[in-house]
Amino acid sequence: MTTPKRIVVLTGAGISAESGINTFRDNGGLWENHRLEDVATPEAFARDPNLVQRFYNGRRAQLNDVNPNPAHIALAEFERNFAGDFLLVTQNVDHLHQQAGSKNLIHMHGELKKSRCLNTGRIHNQQTDINATSLCECCNTPSLRPHIVWFGEMPLDMEEIYQALEQCDLFISIGTSGNVYPAAGFVEVANSVNARTVEINLEPSRGADAFQEAFHGPASVKVAEFLATII
Ligand code: APR
Repeated sequence: MTTPKRIVVLTGAGISAESGINTFRDNGGLWENHRLEDVATPEAFARDPNLVQRFYNGRRAQLNDVNPNPAHIALAEFERNFAGDFLLVTQNVDHLHQQAGSKNLIHMHGELKKSRCLNTGRIHNQQTDINATSLCECCNTPSLRPHIVWFGEMPLDMEEIYQALEQCDLFISIGTSGNVYPAAGFVEVANSVNARTVEINLEPSRGADAFQEAFHGPASVKVAEFLATII
């Protein structure tokens, strides 16, 4: 197997599970406790902004108690030592990849530790709760929403992501169930350019058949194990 030159990695909630952050669709997952229609759509925000802000305030506050696990650390370490092109695309809105040291990173679904001004669209760092009286630092009005891509909204930086996928020779998907597009379709783009495609997940994802190779087990073990076979 030749050494890859252009790698794209996609991560999902499964990579942060061992850091103590609930996934969405596993037992007891976030969507088991909340209807996504009530907390993760623009309509939900228009209907009951306080409920939506409380949902994200709770998830943002939880970030103060979690740390990167060996899977996040292995990816950051690999990127530091890899001589080729490396892009990490995450569906996660936690900051554990940054905390582990990942650099070339795209948060396609936004970030809990950022907020967005409804008037100007500008993005701000957000460490604390957003509530009805929180003033935006760019226009000093109560106009902040979570900087999260909700269902029905366009994920971020898609052009850059597709460009990287169309040039990659290795695509690694880690800890995602393959239920949500466009991320679930990234493997097809990689296959279309004859890249090597690998799934690392606790169990076969919904899109498992599209991958050439699969390594099943906890990300904290399997990610470092697989990366060690590349360099
Ligand atoms: N190691 C590896 N994989 C794991 C682990 C673990 N320790 N624990 C769980 N998994 C796997 C599960 O088997 C599952 O396939 O992680 C996956 C998590 O799937 P989801 O909960 O559906 O999360 P994700 O795929 O990231 O969801 C995608 O859906 O709700 C939206 O915007 C939300 O970004 C999210 C998107």
